[in-house]
Amino acid sequence: MPVISFANPKGGAGKTTTALLLATELAARGADVSVIDADPERWISQWGALPGKPDNIDILSDVSEDSIVDQIEEASEQSQFIIVDLEGTASLMVANAIGMSELVLIPTQGSSMDARGGAKTIRLIRNQERMARRPIPHSVVLTRTSAAVTSRSLRNVQSQLAKAGIDVFETAIVERAAFRDLFDYGGPLERLDPSLVRNVDKARKNAESFAGEVIAKLKSAQMAEAV
Ligand SMILES: Nc1ncnc2c1ncn2[C@@H]1O[C@H](COP(=O)(O)OP(=O)(O)OP(=O)(O)O)[C@@H](O)[C@H]1O
Ligand SMILES: [Mg+2]
Repeated sequence: MPVISFANPKGGAGKTTTALLLATELAARGADVSVIDADPERWISQWGALPGKPDNIDILSDVSEDSIVDQIEEASEQSQFIIVDLEGTASLMVANAIGMSELVLIPTQGSSMDARGGAKTIRLIRNQERMARRPIPHSVVLTRTSAAVTSRSLRNVQSQLAKAGIDVFETAIVERAAFRDLFDYGGPLERLDPSLVRNVDKARKNAESFAGEVIAKLKSAQMAEAV
């Protein structure tokens, strides 16, 4: 079943946040999801220890460079989706996970440092494609965008990346307190208390459309059944 990795050597690009949003949205649609937590800070494992983790999300925390290939292979025999949250470096572990992926998502903030990290990831993916002699679908996901940003300026960034031959998700992940607070409260977005956290409904819509785009991308590569 499809393996979706989140990679960008730039720390804080939004890999962990975006990976958790995808895991919880897929689980909300009824899918069995395995998360391979290869972020040294183990944020998703800590989230999983809080109340409210859906039963259909399984988190593997004990991951190393030596074990990651076996763990991804094993998980992909058991779960409908495997999500790999990678560390913020360009390591052999990251290269191995990319080599095992059906889709690599590259969360990128608008800053040039993030974009450079994204470019490094794309070079890594292209090398892995040559080694594996198969295409590895990959897309940039813009993260922490301002809710107030006009869709025109977003489209501008998207078309610039497209000109460089890089696919960019139409859905950007907006900067929202709800996406941060998930890690404090645990559980999925729908469990957050709207009287404590602002704009939970908007956060949910954002996460839903992101997950929808991931599914569409996998379907176009014939890697996912309907969820
Ligand atoms: N869309 C968002 N809205 C609000 N806060 C966000 C959003 N995305 C990320 N953040 C915050 O930015 C910080 C970095 O995000 P995150 O941990 O997801 O990045 P990362 O790429 O996984 O970092 P690392 O490379 O250290 O693993 C965190 O404090 C997180 O809560
Ligand atoms: Mg992380």
